[in-house]
Amino acid sequence: MIKYINDYGIDLFITSEYGLCRITIPNKTPTVAFLSTLIVDDKHRHCGIGNKLLDTAKLIAKEYDCEVLTLQCDEGWKADWYKRKGFMIIGEGYDPNMIIMSCNLSTTNKLKED
Ligand SMILES: CC(C)(COP(=O)(O)OP(=O)(O)OC[C@H]1O[C@@H](n2cnc3c(N)ncnc32)[C@H](O)[C@@H]1OP(=O)(O)O)[C@@H](O)C(=O)NCCC(=O)NCCS
Repeated sequence: MIKYINDYGIDLFITSEYGLCRITIPNKTPTVAFLSTLIVDDKHRHCGIGNKLLDTAKLIAKEYDCEVLTLQCDEGWKADWYKRKGFMIIGEGYDPNMIIMSCNLSTTNKLKED
């Protein structure tokens, strides 16, 4: 994992061989992490890497004492997938074709408790 601390907050880049996700924890809302990137190499999709990255993002956000993980996505299969992963729609995105989703991390274990 790569960690950047800047004036805005903390950026955490979680990498695997064929995928990457990024969570941002703003100083202004330290209990609300934002999943701003989640991408898997297109030749290696449908193999569970996205699921593993999302699970790890939830664990790491919890490790940083976040209570909620939010993200923005379009409606369709990705929103359906996030719902299966415990996210719910909480509003419209900045772009009207996008939605904001949120996952309560209270049921996510901390890494050290695993
Ligand atoms: C979204 C993304 C990261 C998923 O990565 P992945 O490694 O293929 O995901 P997984 O193999 O772990 O599958 C995750 C779930 O999505 C479902 N899924 C994956 N691709 C799908 C598709 N094209 N259509 C419908 N469902 C799909 C899988 O069935 C799986 O569901 P399940 O775990 O409930 O059975 C990948 O498609 C990607 O990089 N897309 C481009 C970037 C992007 O859109 N990122 C998301 C921003 S919100």
